[in-house]
Amino acid sequence: MKILIVGSGGREHAIGWKIKQDNPNVELFFSVGNAGTQAIGENLGLKTIAELKEFAKTNEVDLTIVGPEMELVDGIVDEFKTAGLEIFGPHQQAAALEGSKVFAKEFMQKHGVKTASYQTFRYFVDAKEYVESLETFPVVIKASGLAAGKGVIIAQDKFEAHEAVKDMMDDKSFGDAGDEVVIEQFLEGFECSILSIYNGKEIVPFISAKDHKKIGEGETGLNTGGMGVIAPNPLFTDAHFQEFVKDILEPTAKGLAEDGLTFSGIIFFGLMITDSGVYLLEYNVRFGDPETEAVLPLMNSNLLEIIQKSNQGESFQIDWENQHACCVVMASGGYPGNYDKGFEIRGLDSVEAPLFIAGASAMASKVVTSGGRVLNVVGLGDSLEEARNQAYENIKKIHFDYEYYREDIGKV
Ligand code: AMP
Ligand code: GLY
Repeated sequence: MKILIVGSGGREHAIGWKIKQDNPNVELFFSVGNAGTQAIGENLGLKTIAELKEFAKTNEVDLTIVGPEMELVDGIVDEFKTAGLEIFGPHQQAAALEGSKVFAKEFMQKHGVKTASYQTFRYFVDAKEYVESLETFPVVIKASGLAAGKGVIIAQDKFEAHEAVKDMMDDKSFGDAGDEVVIEQFLEGFECSILSIYNGKEIVPFISAKDHKKIGEGETGLNTGGMGVIAPNPLFTDAHFQEFVKDILEPTAKGLAEDGLTFSGIIFFGLMITDSGVYLLEYNVRFGDPETEAVLPLMNSNLLEIIQKSNQGESFQIDWENQHACCVVMASGGYPGNYDKGFEIRGLDSVEAPLFIAGASAMASKVVTSGGRVLNVVGLGDSLEEARNQAYENIKKIHFDYEYYREDIGKV
């Protein structure tokens, strides 16, 4: 069986690793890939949807799995299906649940999915007037479109709110993504990521995870693509889970059916747990990164079989190892600002899997850094502490110039 995985990071390496582990005979292809995916499949260096479709057709690819949101929002699923190619993920209309925050909030409100109260704006003058009228801060200002995780500003006062709205709507710092803006209630609490697989009828949730988004220890400094993840999320209790099912998962499944938005793919719920319950901050319609690198090593079920069942609209269960995972990201010094690349990574062979490569390329017999986030080093254990210790022991065996990682991933 031939499987094409679209993307190039640690998430795609982890998806490929999991599939290959359970199904050693599959042949894996990665649209772009990296040094890690090259070890388990073939890197193609294909960029556009047209190129991917052509490759899948010519090479009789049996299934395509899409990592990044961009291709989904651009309609890769629709294009593949029209060409008679099997693919896992939402069609373009449903991908707007991630691609348009205005669309997502309207969906949540219409179907009673618990979320922060909000207003949407198309015109700068209106948004400006609204900001002037606000009396309580902070307030959260979001560019509606895709902004690579940078389009959310938590404004502490009127001045900051005004600057954020001006930046998005008038100065167009995020391009078209800021054509519309959501201004919403600030929620105080802790965050939790829940991935799930949706077969077009039921949404089957994964174990919970906790992302660490800031570059600095103690959640300080700039936002990043994610500096580490633990799973399960130790703060997320069974009672929270029950609330999530009742207030978010069930109304989402019902709403998708009512609006004719059903699909087979991932739904990733970004949650905020507050004193007044569990709120949905956002939908993503793809595997989270680096959540995937922490949760897939704990999955006992055969992911490929589940994806195939989901694509057939069949029911399935997902079984999990009763263990903990801690994924620590090793990054290039300077990230998320400017950083140098091309440094040799030593010690990779001394670490037992799972270790997922995010931004490194194979050059002759060396592996060299090629991105801001370089490696996802995962530890597993019977307790969170054991998992953490294993991750950090592994990290100490790996070296590259200007390496940076947070020492406090999983310290709750
Ligand atoms: P989003 O892309 O909507 O998930 O927002 C990115 C990040 O901004 C979230 O992970 C939260 O840390 C923060 N955030 C978003 N919305 C809110 C909110 N209403 N209240 C507090 N923090 C928020
Ligand atoms: N880790 C957050 C995301 O994948 O969007």
